[in-house]
Amino acid sequence: MSQTRLDRVREARRTLAAEGPNWVRSEGDFGVVTLPVEDCDAIRDAMAAERPATVVEIGLAYGSSALAIGEALVATGGRRHVIVDPYQESAFRDAGWTAVRGAGLEGISELLRQPSQNALPRLIEEGVVADAAFVDGSHVFHQVFVDVYFLQTLVKPGGLVILDDHWWPGVALASAYFETVMGWTAEPISGTPGRLRALRLPATPATPDFKVLPPFWRDGDLGGHLSVSRS
Ligand SMILES: C[S@@+](CC[C@H](N)C(=O)[O-])C[C@H]1O[C@@H](n2cnc3c(N)ncnc32)[C@H](O)[C@@H]1O
Repeated sequence: MSQTRLDRVREARRTLAAEGPNWVRSEGDFGVVTLPVEDCDAIRDAMAAERPATVVEIGLAYGSSALAIGEALVATGGRRHVIVDPYQESAFRDAGWTAVRGAGLEGISELLRQPSQNALPRLIEEGVVADAAFVDGSHVFHQVFVDVYFLQTLVKPGGLVILDDHWWPGVALASAYFETVMGWTAEPISGTPGRLRALRLPATPATPDFKVLPPFWRDGDLGGHLSVSRS
């Protein structure tokens, strides 16, 4: 990939962070919803270290993380960035997709306007194999769990999955299951402390015994947002 193309993506990232998207749902929404620059940089660096050919991303919104992943792909010669978001048009008037296209990433990035629970199994059926994934869609526990569940097949063995908002209980609980029961390993990642969780898939998928379910989370895993009880 030419330096010019990389410069264009970096410039698009700078512009989005400084000026915001071409449309926002309400005043201040961009700052609340989109990933801060330091977390986007952390994702870019972690993704670039993988030298991925294909990355899957769930949750486009205003596109800050998508541009960071696009930068990693362009910098390392990656080919395909599959972004999944059913509400890009209805909730965001395509603001994120406009930013991705404006960055010159349309040759790499594609947007599936479907819920991840529909799109991910379809990608598996099509034979797509991703090297890495970023999850920032619905944060409800069962939805995050289903995202990660499908990613364990969609992402290659030994690949990388990064979760956003690990400080929310649904994300932390889903992550704890895959770490404790399925042998996924947490790796250091920079960015806002406690926000991102980088998980490495095992080289061989675990085959847990259905008769045994170890307690897979500690109360501390659910942070200050503890809203479940074992009693
Ligand atoms: C926190 S925002 C993502 C922020 C984005 N990473 C950024 O940097 O601007 C969450 C996104 O998840 C999307 N979403 C919600 N449910 C989803 C689902 N079932 N499948 C895919 N995306 C979903 C929403 O439309 C929203 O765009």
